[in-house]
Amino acid sequence: MGLQIWRLDAALGATVSNIDLSRPLDAGAVAAVRAAWLEHIVLVFPDQDLTDRQLLDFTRYFGELEFPPSKLLNYSQGSGQKADIPLEINVISNVIEDGKKIGQLGASEAKWHTDTPFVERPPSASVLHALEIPPHGGNTSFMNMYAVLEGLPPPLRARIEGRYCKHDVSHTSDGVLRHDYDESKDASECPGPLHPLIRTHPETGREALYLGKRAWAFIEGLPLAESEAVLDEIWDIATRPEFLYEHVWTQGDIVMWDNRCAMHRREAFDASARRIMHRSQLQGDVPA
Ligand code: OGA
Ligand code: MN
Repeated sequence: MGLQIWRLDAALGATVSNIDLSRPLDAGAVAAVRAAWLEHIVLVFPDQDLTDRQLLDFTRYFGELEFPPSKLLNYSQGSGQKADIPLEINVISNVIEDGKKIGQLGASEAKWHTDTPFVERPPSASVLHALEIPPHGGNTSFMNMYAVLEGLPPPLRARIEGRYCKHDVSHTSDGVLRHDYDESKDASECPGPLHPLIRTHPETGREALYLGKRAWAFIEGLPLAESEAVLDEIWDIATRPEFLYEHVWTQGDIVMWDNRCAMHRREAFDASARRIMHRSQLQGDVPA
């Protein structure tokens, strides 16, 4: 029996079972996973056990590997990851070993964001493998950005049609100023690239709303107060439960999402519990 794909009872997402991602996949399986990923935006593969190399091999079936932000932005302090972890892997963890953080994002909330929108070509996919999961908390929610765009009232959509958003590079998605950057006076002055607020997905041809993070976002060409008001209106709609799927992690899960048409957030968890995820990513296109 081949792999099975079950749509989740939510605005996006499907579970893919009866497939072992640690082994080579045949062309039929790769095509089925790609089609499901494009259709459902988020794929959950339960009960997987992959080494970093196997996670990268799996990811590579769908495109070219992308490096984590620490490497893309050439962090002067490096990534801080252990030397035996491949450069294409980003460790997402709150664990501290020998006084050193082994990964990113800590244990507090990671607010709604898309991954790495602050570069010219943001990654098309992120793939998270849950290696250690706290007993509760740390759920990750996903947002269907096709559906959010369709859900905008026409007058609100008209206000962003053809407009670009500036994606601040100087703060992380949890709002912390990155080491190599200076604080800005306000969102209009932050460094970062412009991407269209409405983008056409290069593979599905569908239009999606494209947002990075709420804090420090700026709609180019509008007065700051108006940009803030329009963004607040959009975010109020986007975060409605009807556009979301909340994933409760089980150790061994692999979750792969389409970063061109999904945002995600991670809720906080008990900082004394351990949570370790290894993430890979795929290179994307210039949003258009
Ligand atoms: C990420 C991320 C959320 C999580 O890896 O990009 O936001 O659940 N992670 O760890
Ligand atoms: Mn993320």
